[in-house]
Amino acid sequence: MSETKYDLSEVLISEEQLKKRVAEIGADITRDYKGEEVLLVGILKGSVPFMADLMRCIDLDVAIDFMAVSSYGSGVKTSGVVRIIKDLDMDLRNRNVIIAEDIIDSGLTLNYLKGYLLEKQPKSLRIATLLDKPARRQVSLRPDYVGFEVEDKFIVGYGLDIDQKYRNLPYISWVKTE
Ligand code: IMP
Ligand code: MG
Repeated sequence: MSETKYDLSEVLISEEQLKKRVAEIGADITRDYKGEEVLLVGILKGSVPFMADLMRCIDLDVAIDFMAVSSYGSGVKTSGVVRIIKDLDMDLRNRNVIIAEDIIDSGLTLNYLKGYLLEKQPKSLRIATLLDKPARRQVSLRPDYVGFEVEDKFIVGYGLDIDQKYRNLPYISWVKTE
């Protein structure tokens, strides 16, 4: 395989910190939806580790589904219109939907997805994001559950990638730019 081109920085959020915080979010969701069922909708691919850990920390009936999206064009996302690569399998009507996302940056992706999912008339819709980068927000979008707020750095690990690398790191780090 080719050599790594990226210079990773120190551990920003450790495996232990991730585990603890994800368990807290799971407990919050369990409390908030007591007596109800929830449908977790993971946004591929970055949400996979977060989703897998979070679902096991929710003590309710949990169904899961996934969507895959990509932004139109490359580079700077201005329109906020996203292309749906993989749509939902499940009917959202009468379901408590919680979107599971890896990170909210500009907020454009989730802002679009939120509108798209609301059209499907769920009973309720909330957003759980592992990471939030509020400094970069371009639209007003408030996630309901946030693992950690992060600075404006390029984050990798625990699902997050650069060039499809580092999703498998069990901790969160960031990439140094020259
Ligand atoms: P947004 O539409 O700008 O909020 O884009 C969010 C998406 O961009 C996330 O779901 C990630 O896939 C990606 N992204 C944003 N910031 C980072 C980062 O720091 N590291 C890795 N991926 C990121
Ligand atoms: Mg993503």
